[in-house]
Amino acid sequence: MAVYSTKLVLLRICVVFLMLSISHGRVNPSFRIKAVNLGGWLVTEGWIKPSLFDGITNKDFLDGTGLQFKSVTVGKYLSAETGGGTIIVANRTSASGWETFKLWRINETTFNLRVFNKQFIGLGSNGNGINVVATSNVSGSSEMFEIVRNSDDQSRVRIKAPNGFFIQAKTEELVTADYAGSSGSWGDDDPSVFVMTISGRLQGEFQVTNGYGPNKAPQIMREHWKTFIVEDDFKFIAGNGLDAVRIPVGWWIASDPTPPQPYVGGSLQALDNAFTWAEKYGVKIVIDLHAAPGSQNGFEHSSSRDGSQEWGTTDDNIQKTVDVIEFLAARYAKRQSLYAIELINEPLSPGVSLEMVNKYYKSGYDAVRKHSSAAYVLMSNRLGPMDPRELFPLTSGLTRSVIDVHYYNLFSDVFDNMSVQQNIDFIKTNRTAQLNHVTTSNGPLTFVGEWVAEWQVSGATKEEYQRFANAQLEVYGRATFGWAYWTLKNVNNHWSLEWMINNGYIKL
Ligand SMILES: *[C@@H]1O[C@H](CO)[C@@H](O)[C@H](O)[C@H]1NC(C)=O
Ligand SMILES: *[C@@H]1O[C@H](CO)[C@@H](O)[C@H](O)[C@H]1NC(C)=O
Ligand SMILES: *[C@@H]1O[C@H](CO)[C@@H](O)[C@H](O)[C@H]1NC(C)=O
Ligand SMILES: *[C@@H]1O[C@H](CO)[C@@H](O)[C@H](O)[C@H]1NC(C)=O
Ligand SMILES: *[C@@H]1O[C@H](CO)[C@@H](O)[C@H](O)[C@H]1NC(C)=O
Repeated sequence: MAVYSTKLVLLRICVVFLMLSISHGRVNPSFRIKAVNLGGWLVTEGWIKPSLFDGITNKDFLDGTGLQFKSVTVGKYLSAETGGGTIIVANRTSASGWETFKLWRINETTFNLRVFNKQFIGLGSNGNGINVVATSNVSGSSEMFEIVRNSDDQSRVRIKAPNGFFIQAKTEELVTADYAGSSGSWGDDDPSVFVMTISGRLQGEFQVTNGYGPNKAPQIMREHWKTFIVEDDFKFIAGNGLDAVRIPVGWWIASDPTPPQPYVGGSLQALDNAFTWAEKYGVKIVIDLHAAPGSQNGFEHSSSRDGSQEWGTTDDNIQKTVDVIEFLAARYAKRQSLYAIELINEPLSPGVSLEMVNKYYKSGYDAVRKHSSAAYVLMSNRLGPMDPRELFPLTSGLTRSVIDVHYYNLFSDVFDNMSVQQNIDFIKTNRTAQLNHVTTSNGPLTFVGEWVAEWQVSGATKEEYQRFANAQLEVYGRATFGWAYWTLKNVNNHWSLEWMINNGYIKL
């Protein structure tokens, strides 16, 4: 009897504690989210859904496409001498950074060409001369070029300058815009003909919206947002052992319905829908600012225009980003499904300094807290050279802060020749050590916000994929905030958690 009543008293105390915890908005500390990213939905990534780009006219020439031009008469590549700031020459035998010209698309035929040091190609004497130079920091009408492709051989091009003449390589050291010939032949004797190589492409939100242009982009994007993720996906998520989604969004969402060009309105409505569906199926939402103004890492997934990373270089774009976070926090703070806001995804070191990222994280955290004391605030560790605990001094003064780390057995030559078993051992040994290093009893919670059961092993069997996935589930299951698979839908099967679940590769 005495034993029973003691138990009852203990039980009562527990219940009271539980109620207190709930009333203070705390959750069970052992709860960890099992989430999936909704990648490629509100922030475009062409490799996730290539067909989104199918209807773009002249779709080889999108913003950020890197072009190299070899003169057929001189036999050498065009190059921005010293990387930019002076003349264009035609004296390089091989092509790399200085020989690569990045497109800024004006429309389907007209472009600015940006060189390594970020100047734009134009004509000397303030646009009135004929020498081709790369001296202007800004692009205007005197920096607009047309690229004309030979219809019989798409790799042969001629470049028409704003003065109406074609660029020609007169000699290795003299490149001018004064060739008037019409070139019916496109032959090897024509100094205005260049063999073009595409050295790199970007397929992000900037590319798709600017590629379609203001007349077509709104309809194409709204159709994509309406069909790529639908209510049934939330039903699928809730019915397959997942309890949360991480939703990448872009900074332009805060100026919906009229974001700056070339972005188009409507992604905010799609995010609203996600909250409605999440509430219906009991799914938690992590909003993830994946693309910040100016791009925090130069990748297409942060909507970089041409591969440059300009975010975090001025206080101005930091403040602009804090405003975006505050907008999102204010709009969704009262929604039952809002679980966390991630201030920015994958800022890249050293372009984004620790000082700037700390400054931003502090202000971004405060912006969330103005509207919600319950939402977790996620901070992505920087990519590139950094100390995995570098955010600890900052987070020590904050409540409900979480460090987001991304673990891929990809994107590094460390994984180049790893066998199946070596990949699995790497998860069990090395990832465990890395996660333990950032998971401390008095530090921030930890989140493996991106991972995938894909690797550089070719021809692996289903059973091998299962072992790889299970090893990751076991290790990342120890992250104190949880994990999120990248991503729900993808034309590349192993990158699609939907496909992996439906085909029995992953079971939660
Ligand atoms: C190319 O031409 C420029 C300008 O005359 C010159 O400074 C440079 O050394 C040349 N480079 C090569 C590889 O010949
Ligand atoms: C592209 O832009 C240029 C420069 O503004 C203009 O002259 C040209 O007509 C435009 N072409 C198309 C197809 O819109
Ligand atoms: C172009 O930008 C560079 C680097 O920011 C600067 O040093 C240079 O003065 C600028 N040139 C002009 C003409 O504004
Ligand atoms: C992987 O193996 C290939 C072929 O044996 C070799 O050329 C390459 O250097 C190896 N890569 C690494 C990172 O060890
Ligand atoms: C993984 O960890 C083991 C044990 O610490 C270490 O010997 C090995 O070099 C690590 N592997 C890689 C690829 O870093």
